[in-house]
Amino acid sequence: MRFEPEGPLHGDLHPPPDKSVSHRAALIGAMAEGPTRISGYLDSADTRATLRAVAAVGADVTEGEPDGNGGLFVEVEGIGLRGPRPAEIDVANAGTLLRLMPGWLAGQADGEWTLDGDESIRRRPVDRIAEPLRLMGADVEARDARLPPLRVRGAPLRGIDYELPVASAQVKSCVLLAGLLAAGTTTVHEPHWTRDHTERLLASAGAEIRRDGGNITVSPTERLEAGDVPVPGDFSSAAFFLVAALIVPGSELGLREVGINRARIGLLSILSRMGVEMGGAHLKHGRAESTTREPPAITIEEIHEPGPEPIARLNVHSAPLSGATITADDVPSAIDELPLVALLGCFADGETVVSGAAELRAKESDRIAGIVDGLAGLGAEIEDRPDGFAVRGTSGLRGGTLDARGDHRLAMVGAVAGLASREGVEVTDFESVEVSYPGFERDLRSLLT
Ligand code: S3P
Repeated sequence: MRFEPEGPLHGDLHPPPDKSVSHRAALIGAMAEGPTRISGYLDSADTRATLRAVAAVGADVTEGEPDGNGGLFVEVEGIGLRGPRPAEIDVANAGTLLRLMPGWLAGQADGEWTLDGDESIRRRPVDRIAEPLRLMGADVEARDARLPPLRVRGAPLRGIDYELPVASAQVKSCVLLAGLLAAGTTTVHEPHWTRDHTERLLASAGAEIRRDGGNITVSPTERLEAGDVPVPGDFSSAAFFLVAALIVPGSELGLREVGINRARIGLLSILSRMGVEMGGAHLKHGRAESTTREPPAITIEEIHEPGPEPIARLNVHSAPLSGATITADDVPSAIDELPLVALLGCFADGETVVSGAAELRAKESDRIAGIVDGLAGLGAEIEDRPDGFAVRGTSGLRGGTLDARGDHRLAMVGAVAGLASREGVEVTDFESVEVSYPGFERDLRSLLT
């Protein structure tokens, strides 16, 4: 797929529903009693794998009409916390499904489940969940003790106190779901605040769950009832347009109904440090107030909370950027946006350095290698580091070919790079966008007319 230098971007867009929240809404809906009505369930390859998975263990899934924003109305008739039947589960490319669902299955009275997926998922570590689950008494077995397929046999669990060795919302969520079925309370300590969608949804479904600083404690639970779950627009999908509007001169965009969960919007703090002025009633940290008469390049408006997650409208226009230093503290809340930070770095004045992000090597692809090779092939001055990368701004990008390596986020970075480049970008393996954003190309082109 080819993306020619084009722009500016203009208009308004409702980005597709949040992938992380969609996975959790379907899973928690299956664990609940009675119907869970999910409005704006993401229609993508990853989240369809979760609908198939909950159906495989016995939940009744009814799909409604597409909503025109990449979402569907979905009703999940739950089977209850202790109801899943044995199954072989194909998680396809969905790391979140692979890491969360075993937490629920591990505490069942009996039964056996196998979770496996595509070639890329078979390279993604599951020892990070097997280890805490075993401490709780779970019977889990992975290939080479580390990789999928993962076999789970139901066993009695006990609550634990667990300090996350990696800042991972998936691992945290897995342990918390297991804690619902364990004897005694379960506490997860997270050194850095990671996305808390699981905690919010569980609390709204009636679980006893509380946060005290970096400690999240869940108590054993008899039943959940999730009811109506609205899914916000995905900040991580909106981020491609946010960045496109910043680096394609003359652009001006509105992004509607975007989830602004604090643990997801670290890109805004990074942008603020890159010199982008922020305005509106926006969350406090990392803010750079406008000092000029120009409207700030990014404003956050219309904040509301129709369900467990806060939502807002983001307005953005193009702006000059300066290099910034991003360290481990910044990483969890911007983990999926770091490939975009590399692209921003190409257009910034000075050097942009990302460290403390070795986790990027364990995503849908090795995202450090993918983004460094990808952008270098387009003319960027970028080098890889064991736990990140350094990029020197060169006021733009020549263009060329970028290989998405089967990774949806690299494919979308390639498309945005193409618009902002001098000669255009050919993205190979572009179809991988299906994983999170099947309508991405159509949406992007709609903002160019
Ligand atoms: C996710 C958590 C993050 C993120 C992924 C989705 C989630 O992964 O990168 O895209 O939904 O919990 P880790 O938990 O491995 O950091």
